[in-house]
Order: sequence, then C-alpha cells, then structure tokens
Amino acid sequence: RKTAPMPDDIRAMKGGTPIVSLTAYTTPMAQMMDAHCDFVLVGDSVGMVLHGLTSTLGVTMEMMILHGQAVRRGLSRAMMVVDMPFGSYEESPAQAFRNAARLMAETGAGAVKLEGGQAMAETIAFLTARGVPVMAHVGLTPQAINTLGGYKVQGRGAAAETLLADARAVAGAGAFAVVLEKIPETLSDRITAELAIPTIGIGASAGCDGQILVVDDMLGLFTAFKPKFVKRYASLGTDGEAAIADYAREVRARSFPGPEHVFGDTAPGAAR
Ligand code: KIV
Ligand code: NA
Repeated sequence: RKTAPMPDDIRAMKGGTPIVSLTAYTTPMAQMMDAHCDFVLVGDSVGMVLHGLTSTLGVTMEMMILHGQAVRRGLSRAMMVVDMPFGSYEESPAQAFRNAARLMAETGAGAVKLEGGQAMAETIAFLTARGVPVMAHVGLTPQAINTLGGYKVQGRGAAAETLLADARAVAGAGAFAVVLEKIPETLSDRITAELAIPTIGIGASAGCDGQILVVDDMLGLFTAFKPKFVKRYASLGTDGEAAIADYAREVRARSFPGPEHVFGDTAPGAAR
C-alpha cells in the first residue's frame, strides 16, 4: 500500500488478512513500524511505559497531543489512531467531540479510540456523525480499573452476554473497528463472527480480524510486569542495560573514548 489507509480501508479488512497494529509514542518507533503495520495506535499506555505512571488515569490531552505529533512525523504509510485520555470524553458527547477534534487537528490522527461499550454508544454515534472516525475498546478497559476491580479477564461466565452487548452497541453506533482486550478466546471468536466490523485482539484470540500489542512490551523494553497476552519478540531492555554497563566499565577504565573517537590538532584529509 502506497498511501495511508483510511478507517474505511481498515473496516474493509474484516475477515481478510489479519490487520497488524502496534502502539507507538515516538518518531523513531513509528518509523520502525511504518512499513509493517496497517495502523499505529498512540495509546494512553504511554503514561505507564514512557512516563512511569502506575495506571493510565493520569494521562492528559497534552501528553496525547505531544506523542501524537511525534508519531505522526514518523509515519508515511500506516494510519494513526490516537487514544482519548481518561476524563476527556466520558462527560458528554459534546465534550468528546471537542477533545476528539482537538486531537485530530493538532496531531493529524485519522481516528480516535475511546474505551467503553453500551455507555459510550451515544458518544460514538455523535462523533462518527460529525467526521470523527472512532475505534472502540471493550473488555478490559484500563481507564476503568477502579470500577473493574483490577486487571482481570473480562466477560467470563454470565458477564459474556454483557460484553457481547457492549460489542454490538459500539458496532451499531458506527465504530469502524473494536479492540477486544483480555477476554476469553471463545467469546472473542463469537464477537468476531457476529460483528460486521473488524475486531482487534489483545489477549483475545488469533481468530480476531487483527492484533495489537504495546510496542515496549513486545520489544522487551517495558519489564515492570508482563501480562500473559504479551509475547516478547526481543529483549531490548536487558540488551540496553548490558550496553550501558559496558559503557560504564569502559569510561571507568579510560578505554572509552578510543583513538577513533577523538580529534587531532590538524584535520586529516576531509575527516572531521
Ligand atoms: O493504550 C494502549 O496501548 C491500548 C492498547 C493496548 C489497545 O489501548
Ligand atoms: Na489505551
């Protein structure tokens, strides 16, 4: 694909080759994934993986805008979706529109994502009717951690019907895709089979229409904890610490900088 996909292109990938996505928060990370992902999410997970917050509740509009702008500069091919932070959309559809419009205008995002099922249906319909494509997010919704009672699997047992109703509600309200986070595989497959829009799984099922992971998790950069649904494809955290230890040892031994890193009194040829 030569030009960035639009939300409608993502929607049209329902039932086809799985949609590939990751989160990103910085320009170089966005550049690394631009050629490989269909869309990139500037997730409010930024608060936890880059800013050291213990939940996503303290993430602000200003943080999402700053990181959204950085990611946008690193993308030429993948679509960018920006998370609406806690407190920026729940109060009313009008509040949600005001903040969604600001996120899109200031970052160049092609869509926003917000958390919630039936309770957010009216807001999703309000936004989509006014030019804001919405990706929904149901199941484990980290901004609701204080009412969900922890980061546990959602939709088990009798709660399955409520979660199915949540998924139906966001699709019916006009969301172009929905993230399913930390729910049983069978329920995930049922939702994917029933909805006309793509499901993007994280801790859901390989049967989803797409997958997403937090990039710092899959690269092994975020190591404070590892949810079961995370697969580490690299160990950049331990590799990075080993590199820093090497550097510290070489500085203390005066073996860094070496002859190739220092400058002579006169310029040798064109080198500088
Ligand atoms: O903020 C985030 O990283 C997310 C993904 C895990 C879906 O919402
Ligand atoms: Na998020």
